[in-house]
Amino acid sequence: MRELMVRGLTLEADDVLTVELVDPTGAALPEWTPGAHADLVVGDGTVRQYSLCGDPAAGSLTVAVRHDPAGRGGSSWVHRTLRPGDRIPVRGIKNHFALEPAPQVVLVAGGVGITPLLPMAEQLARAGKPWRLAYLGRETKRMPFLDRVRALGTPATVHETATTGRPPMSELLGDLAPGALVYVCGPAALIEDARAALEARGLGSQLRAEYFEAPALAAAEDPGTFLVRLERSGMELVVPADRSALEVVTGAGIDVLSDCEEGICGSCETKVLAGEVDHRDYVLTKQEKAENSCMMICVSRARGPRLTLDL
Ligand SMILES: Cc1cc2nc3c(=O)[nH]c(=O)nc-3n(C[C@H](O)[C@H](O)[C@H](O)COP(=O)(O)OP(=O)(O)OC[C@H]3O[C@@H](n4cnc5c(N)ncnc54)[C@H](O)[C@@H]3O)c2cc1C
Ligand code: FES
Repeated sequence: MRELMVRGLTLEADDVLTVELVDPTGAALPEWTPGAHADLVVGDGTVRQYSLCGDPAAGSLTVAVRHDPAGRGGSSWVHRTLRPGDRIPVRGIKNHFALEPAPQVVLVAGGVGITPLLPMAEQLARAGKPWRLAYLGRETKRMPFLDRVRALGTPATVHETATTGRPPMSELLGDLAPGALVYVCGPAALIEDARAALEARGLGSQLRAEYFEAPALAAAEDPGTFLVRLERSGMELVVPADRSALEVVTGAGIDVLSDCEEGICGSCETKVLAGEVDHRDYVLTKQEKAENSCMMICVSRARGPRLTLDL
């Protein structure tokens, strides 16, 4: 955890505020790669994740926060309270959405979901790699970073859906080179459309997605009871059907970092030593889930009767 200072605030688009953070003593900030997010402590101590959307070489950290009036107040606090010169605790930088080597990268952004994808596009353009970006939003006045996107030239297209309607996902994805990776960030419905379109082509494992909020789901089937063995603490605990492993583990006095408790932020990632996981998060890729070496204990459960965790 480290306190950073707000150097600049810019109203980037309607309801989207860019916050530029620096170290108040002038010390260097941690390095980061496109796709990374920072955990900001907003308001009275709640943590919210924000994708880093500036230039990794800039020496400052920039995030863009969309005001969500239906939320619990994190984004409202940023918009209404934060001012230049204020200090704000930042809890480190993580990247669950990093660019992987691929013969072609296709980026699909919806609204403020452009934040992790824009530094990716800029990096790919600088490196001369094959890429393209489709950036969708209802109205351009609510779409941040249009200048930066347009400066990327023809591989980047902007779609104002209120005037043109939303192009079909198959069109947005276009022809994909063998082994291409598709990175999507935006509303859950956009991500699910991309998933369905890729699965229809037999390319489901080539999707990389970052959710900013958990999708509304139909009630899950009976989650079942299982046992967790905490290897380092030497405890065995029962996780009943109506509680998460996170609740049971923290209830037993074991410290585990957690924020969203909805399987989207990655804070509660825990190493799995034995047992098969029933992954229910939106952070890990299909391949990472198949590797069965870690899990988000706020939502994921055991496929069998027991799991051993490195706690
Ligand atoms: C990895 C990651 C990166 C992110 N990057 C960005 C970014 O670059 N820019 C950005 O603007 N946001 C980003 N977010 C989202 C951000 O972290 C916050 O969730 C967002 O700013 C809203 O915060 P809030 O406190 O205002 O609303 P929240 O309380 O977090 O509510 C968000 C939504 O959840 C629902 N909700 C409301 N109340 C509840 C409740 N009691 N329980 C459960 N759900 C509820 C509502 O639909 C609401 O619209 C990111 C999230 C993640 C996980
Ligand atoms: S607390 Fe966010 S993924 Fe578990």
